[in-house]
Amino acid sequence: MSIEDVLALARAEVRALTPYLSARMEAGKSAVMLNANESPWPPQEDAGLDLNRYPEPQPKALRERLAALYGVTPEQLLLGRGSDEMIDLLVRGFCRPGQDAVAITPPTFSMYALCAAVQGARLVTVPLSAESFMVRAEALRDACQEGVKLVFLCSPNNPTGGRVPLEVIDYIATELSGRAVLIVDEAYIEYAQAPSVVTLLSRHPNLGVLHTLSKAWALAGVRIGALLAHADIVTLLQRIMSPYPLPTPCVAMAMAAVDESGERLMHERVRRIIEQREQLARRLRAWPGVQEVLVSRANFLCVRFTDAERVYRQLGERGVVVRNLSRYPGLHDALRLSVGTAEDNACLVDALQSLTEVV
Ligand SMILES: Cc1ncc(COP(=O)(O)O)c(C=O)c1O
Repeated sequence: MSIEDVLALARAEVRALTPYLSARMEAGKSAVMLNANESPWPPQEDAGLDLNRYPEPQPKALRERLAALYGVTPEQLLLGRGSDEMIDLLVRGFCRPGQDAVAITPPTFSMYALCAAVQGARLVTVPLSAESFMVRAEALRDACQEGVKLVFLCSPNNPTGGRVPLEVIDYIATELSGRAVLIVDEAYIEYAQAPSVVTLLSRHPNLGVLHTLSKAWALAGVRIGALLAHADIVTLLQRIMSPYPLPTPCVAMAMAAVDESGERLMHERVRRIIEQREQLARRLRAWPGVQEVLVSRANFLCVRFTDAERVYRQLGERGVVVRNLSRYPGLHDALRLSVGTAEDNACLVDALQSLTEVV
């Protein structure tokens, strides 16, 4: 399958679009800047950021740094407002309302279904296996018939925490060749301590990977995520993106946080979270109200309780907020617990131990 075949899966009207040429794209920065109707003066508090100027549409330095970190070229990386924006762009770029479909493997991250609904794309669901929440690769292949343009897999999966093996991704991408684009959401990959799907990109032009600075990099408030894919898919999606997606202060903060010392700090924190995760899992398994703690490769645990609703409510009354998964198929009795600091986790365990009536 060539990249032309992949691009042919995108909406024809998007392929035919003449991209909006923003003032900043047309001319970077010159001595006299009179092309974007900006204020010639910085605001009162500027901190040397040139906030009176529109930001770079795809900030070069951040793009280069993240591309090097993730193992792609800068042209293969599209930056946006969190991976949430990438999901929305992909659905808008590939699915015609009322005609095309998005395939997902529930229980999984809810934004894929939400973006499909907003776009008016049909949703095809291929539930994870009931016993172990694994992707059913052949069932997924069979479900991706006419009209399915995009397939979202989440690895490690939110909310179950399991990882999809690279061989399975490789198999599905091969099977979808010529039919659909496979997007693997690796929002939690740093916690998995396993190779990224990025290593498969060169084999599959119909494969894309989502990464984010919101989790292990501790930058959820900065709202920066990335799609890693063939450079032509990046160029295509940039056509339907707003011209200046990333605010200058957010880019500056991200740059400061992803330098070499930031990278060391990130790895050190990931190590601590994994240690805490395993310790918390052991303590939860020992608590009589817990039915099962799913094996997690992320920074959360998916836990089945004898009375999840009551545990959820009573933890809330004790000031501990967790995620109720009762809306997710196959997880009506489960809660998702993010792994916090050792102190946060101790508060959670103490609060659980005070709930004698739900045991
Ligand atoms: C699997 C998954 N993908 C994407 C996101 C969105 O991340 P971002 O903050 O980059 O938009 C989340 C957030 O919880 C997530 O769990």
